[in-house]
Amino acid sequence: MNKKISASAPGKIIITGEHFVVHGSYAVAAAINKRVRVSISEMKNGESCIVSQNSRSSLKNDDGRFQAARKVAQEVLERYGKIREGGIELEISSDIPPGSGLGSSAAVSVATAGALLKFLGVDPRNEEIYEISMKGETEIHGNPSGIDIQAALLGGMVLFSKGAGAKTISLDRGLQLLVVFSGQSRKTSNLIRKVGVRKKQFPAFFECLTEAASCLSLDAVEASIRGDFLRLGTLMNVAQTSLSWIGVSNPVLDEIVELAASHDALGAKITGAGGGGSVVVLPRPESAAALLKRISKKYPMSFITSIPQEGLKWER
Ligand code: MEV
Repeated sequence: MNKKISASAPGKIIITGEHFVVHGSYAVAAAINKRVRVSISEMKNGESCIVSQNSRSSLKNDDGRFQAARKVAQEVLERYGKIREGGIELEISSDIPPGSGLGSSAAVSVATAGALLKFLGVDPRNEEIYEISMKGETEIHGNPSGIDIQAALLGGMVLFSKGAGAKTISLDRGLQLLVVFSGQSRKTSNLIRKVGVRKKQFPAFFECLTEAASCLSLDAVEASIRGDFLRLGTLMNVAQTSLSWIGVSNPVLDEIVELAASHDALGAKITGAGGGGSVVVLPRPESAAALLKRISKKYPMSFITSIPQEGLKWER
């Protein structure tokens, strides 16, 4: 039988601190119940390729598709040598809509690095998977902080800053969040650039907001640990105001945030780069299902997620 190794990694939401984390603040991310699976199979002959449901592309030649997976696979092969005979088929399947702000490219990068390293007989260390996965993330987002990769790699809730790295947070009480995809996909790299322009225009004020994002994130971790959802929701609402100010909200995202607030949610904000993508809502625990039903009428790609503990895992 041909050798086959599969790995999967979760998508993520950002609870506080997106964008400001690129400029040095703390931020809080969490894994979601949607994953990307990557399988590597040996091919006796033929050119190595990347495939997904309806698409096939050569691993060597960049045709603009599968950029994260290609970059990561090329990096692993550069470090650990070529495939001896024939080639490999790298197959990707994903539950995460691309461009939804839910960490699809990070999950692809982490699952690809994990699966391919294992396939080549390397016992992968988290530090190396992170380093290699960042090549894929940088290919797609230009100047990522690394938070999406850490959430996909480690799972659970993660407190992160570029200076301090990632720390997983264990929670006493489970947390349920509602994720609402606006249906508008967008490119994270464009939004990171747009925020960079804002920073140049208002450097002192931007620095204050970056410090505030750190305070919000550290407070959000404390509130999550204690299960103080009222406080966590308030912190998320404050974070939304900063994100609006730096120009990453839009009328559809504002509408979703208002819709959630008008149905008694504890907090709601953009999650990830904004400009489209998704909103994360903290519902009152007893009314999460009812809120999902209401919001799904207008935004059918909404779902409730817990915070799964599993990050990267190898599958049979
Ligand atoms: C994207 O999920 C989060 C951003 O802060 C970019 C990054 O940190 O890499 C917008």
